[in-house]
Amino acid sequence: MKVTVVGAGAVGASCAEYIAIKNFASEVVLVDIKENFAEGKAMDLMQCASLNGFDTKITGSTNDYTKTAGSHIAVITSGIPRKPGMTREELIGINAGIVRSVAENLIKHSPNVILIVVSNPMDTMTYLVHKATNHPANKIIGMGGALDSARFNYRLSEALGCPASDVDGMVIAAHSDTGMLPLTRLATRRGVPVSQFLATDALDKVSHETKVGGATLTAFLGTSAWYAPGAAVSQIVQAIACDQKKMVPCSVMLNGEYGQKDICLGTPVILGKNGIEKIVEVELNDAEKAKFKESADAVRVVNGDLAAVLA
Ligand code: 2OP
Repeated sequence: MKVTVVGAGAVGASCAEYIAIKNFASEVVLVDIKENFAEGKAMDLMQCASLNGFDTKITGSTNDYTKTAGSHIAVITSGIPRKPGMTREELIGINAGIVRSVAENLIKHSPNVILIVVSNPMDTMTYLVHKATNHPANKIIGMGGALDSARFNYRLSEALGCPASDVDGMVIAAHSDTGMLPLTRLATRRGVPVSQFLATDALDKVSHETKVGGATLTAFLGTSAWYAPGAAVSQIVQAIACDQKKMVPCSVMLNGEYGQKDICLGTPVILGKNGIEKIVEVELNDAEKAKFKESADAVRVVNGDLAAVLA
């Protein structure tokens, strides 16, 4: 199983590291535009192999996509991350052109590749890859919900004073500070609704902190986070590589689900060897439906800015 990760920055390298440590892929190719950068990251990571006990072979390449040929899965992390005070949406001007050409290069050398889009604004970048490439819809997956759900579980465990492994929550809709929809109503602690333990104001606080999870870290770190994004990507890659049929919230092209069409937004999907094997539509109540629609309306406005790149 060959996996390519484009962008050897913090998110790309962290993603390659988690994939290697989980030891399910035979090969990871890191690609970066900066001369020798991916080669250096790959060498540093390979020097962890005997320490961390993995057999995955990691190589680096300076923008040579022939090295990615025959990839089963490719992760796109290219583009610039946000700086403190910026929204993900503000990155569209720079990142759209980069993401388009990276996706085209990947498909050229690996026509059957399953693409995982991480670059921001992620839902719009995922939509762009659909529109620019005509690649099959089951093979284009946006990484947002997996990360946002992990942040939701972290905040829930903090509020409950329990380990994150005790809680099970999911975030759907857009990967944006205002568009995320943490499903507090459906979150549980070992199957028991969290509303049994947390009052509405505590749940609202969890929800808010989840939505601004990325922005909080960007303010702390001076740039976008990388450990949880890398781990979330590796969860998706592993679910596909190992044909797990695992349910993970991802940004996918909707075709009528939640009353939406021609837009990429977060919803649980079943991931297996074919990429997206099934879209699971969550039954929402009226308030959640209204929030999902608001989220979709905002993403549509951002998608409108793709006209120049798609022309
Ligand atoms: C985040 O940290 C990478 O968008 C990303 O939320």
